[in-house]
Amino acid sequence: MSQTKSTNITQQDASVTRAQREALLGQRGAVVWFTGLSASGKSTVARLVDKALHERGKHSCVLDGDNIRFGLNSDLGFSPEDRNENIRRIGEVAKLFAQSGTIALTAFISPYSADRDRNRAINAPGDFIEVFVDCALEACEARDPRGLYAKARAGKIPEFTGISAPYESPKEPEIVLQTDQEDEVRSAARVMAYLDGKGYLRSPAGWVTPPIEPLNPRPPALGGPGERPAGSAPRSGS
Ligand code: ADX
Repeated sequence: MSQTKSTNITQQDASVTRAQREALLGQRGAVVWFTGLSASGKSTVARLVDKALHERGKHSCVLDGDNIRFGLNSDLGFSPEDRNENIRRIGEVAKLFAQSGTIALTAFISPYSADRDRNRAINAPGDFIEVFVDCALEACEARDPRGLYAKARAGKIPEFTGISAPYESPKEPEIVLQTDQEDEVRSAARVMAYLDGKGYLRSPAGWVTPPIEPLNPRPPALGGPGERPAGSAPRSGS
């Protein structure tokens, strides 16, 4: 599903540039890609980072695997092909958010390196921050907040990541969070420190919001050629 099927399509230019949006927001757009086993803490940490960003006056959003599978990706299951398509779509959506100046926090198992690497590749350098939520399988299984590991062990959930389906750990993630060794507040603080330290929480140096040409230039003075005199009734049907 990665080839463009449509023909006779062209890229349209934006009327407001990304730089203008980022200057307005006082931040840099990015995709913060949390990956890890089910129950590793991806969503919990992503939500804490979202809250911390909001409290700093920064604009962010969370795209969460379980939630997205109720809507946009409700047609997908957990086969390798469906996970591939799940991650491809979210990669594209998150990229759109980043280009609008938003810090998009994504929380998906995303077990395949190739799928994550492809999402990195569609973004500009520095726009994709991979966060490996590194929690031992035993710890995830001990937490098992929804009893899914127990069901998977009993053979009631096929292709369950870590039990009967693979998880490929990131080789060079920007951030590693050992969520079986530190609590979620500390993990979220480390993500915030990374974003702050690398300059994502301020406009790139020297940027100011440049003036934007008005979309609809002021109309000519009333009474000019083709203009209806002030106060006259519109023609019927118009
Ligand atoms: S991904 O592998 O395609 O990235 P995603 O993050 O969207 O997965 O969804 C994972 C969530 O779906 C888990 O947190 C769990 O609640 C649920 N789930 C249901 N079936 C499975 C399964 N077979 N493997 C992993 N997670 C599953």
